[in-house]
This record gives sequence, structure tokens and C-alpha cells, in this order.
Amino acid sequence: MTQDEMKKQAAWAALEFIPHNTVVGVGTGSTVNHFIDALASIKQHIKGAVSSSVQSTEKLKALGIPVLELNDIDSFSVYVDGADEINPLKHMIKGGGAALTREKIVAAVAERFICIVDSSKQVDTLGKFPLPVEVIPMAMAYVQRQLNELGGDARLRENVITDNGNLILDVHNLKITDPKALESSINNIVGVVCNGIFAHRAADTVLVGSATGTVIIN
Ligand code: 5RP
Repeated sequence: MTQDEMKKQAAWAALEFIPHNTVVGVGTGSTVNHFIDALASIKQHIKGAVSSSVQSTEKLKALGIPVLELNDIDSFSVYVDGADEINPLKHMIKGGGAALTREKIVAAVAERFICIVDSSKQVDTLGKFPLPVEVIPMAMAYVQRQLNELGGDARLRENVITDNGNLILDVHNLKITDPKALESSINNIVGVVCNGIFAHRAADTVLVGSATGTVIIN
């Protein structure tokens, strides 16, 4: 089974966790693209979606799923998104698709975060995947120096502007032994909009697509 087939399997398994007549939070990425295809098959049973990126919004609309504004909603039941890495505490690194800030905002409003991944995303310790950090453009060099002082090797992601008009620094060589503490300290650097550690808002349920079927971790 290919990695993409495992992603698809986890994505379609998420349908079981979508209550009828609800708003669904939708993440970003290749795994989520499979989920949007799956969601379209039950679109008559949901009120609509809240999207975390322009890319997902376009796909949702193309498949006839109404896209709602987060500011018009007090809360909703389920957010479904992928991850670049996930540890046994369900802490994640996200932002490989540069959508981390909007993903973190939508996840914050959701009652339940369902993470859909293929088995290659499971790790014991976060940090092998370079940590994405969204940065205000004029602060880029300053933030880069600060991230390097934390022990990383922060590199500008070439030719990428986020949906919010900002830059992404990818921080290599971090061994993230205390994800909550590092998430907080990076957010405290002036000029950082958001970083890709999702530890304060971890996943609640993980669906792992693998060659032997989808494993549910609660
Ligand atoms: C986008 C993300 C994605 O969830 C993450 O990069 C995983 O992507 P994929 O499903 O394509 O492997 O955080 O910002």
C-alpha cells in the first residue's frame, strides 16, 4: 500500500466521527484533500465547513460544500486535519503546507481535533521534520537569529507567502523534548505570528492509516 493510499484510508475513516447537521472544521494538505472528497459524499448531512486555507476553501466550494466564516460561529464539534509529525501524547508538528496559523485558529474553536495521518508521521520525539514558523516579513532576520539561539537552524522557505501575507522559516535540527514549553517560547519572539507545534491544543483522536488498516488512538 502506498503512502497516499494510507492517507486516503485514514481520511475516509474520519467520516464516522462527523455528526449529522454539524459544521466541520477542515484542515489543509494532501490527506485533508482526501477528507474533503469523503466529506462531499455526505454533504447533504452537514451544515457546512470552516476552512483553514484558501486551498481547502477552493476545493470545498468546487465540491459544493458551503464554506462558513469562523467569526460567525461560536463553536463547532469536529476539526479534521493532517500532521507532519505526531508523538504518543498527540502533540504535533504542522505547517508543511504553510497553513499553520489558520489551522491553529480553527482547531482552537473546535471541541474535538481528529488528526488523520499515515503511519510514517508517528514519531517518539518531535523535531525531525523542520518546524515551520510563520513570521511577519520585516521581522524575518531578527526571528531567524532568535530561533538559531534556541539551537535550531532556521531557513527561509523559498517562494512561499502564507494566506496571511507572511513568510515561513523552517527550523531544522530541533529535538523537541518539551513541546509545550518550546511552543510558548517561540510564540514569545516578537515578529512570530505562530509556530507549528500543536501541543497546547493537541489532537483528541488520531486515525492512522497503515498497511493493515486504520488504527484509532483515543
Ligand atoms: C499544512 C499541514 C498539513 O496538515 C501537514 O503538512 C500534512 O500534510 P499532508 O497531509 O500533505 O502530509 O499542517 O499546513
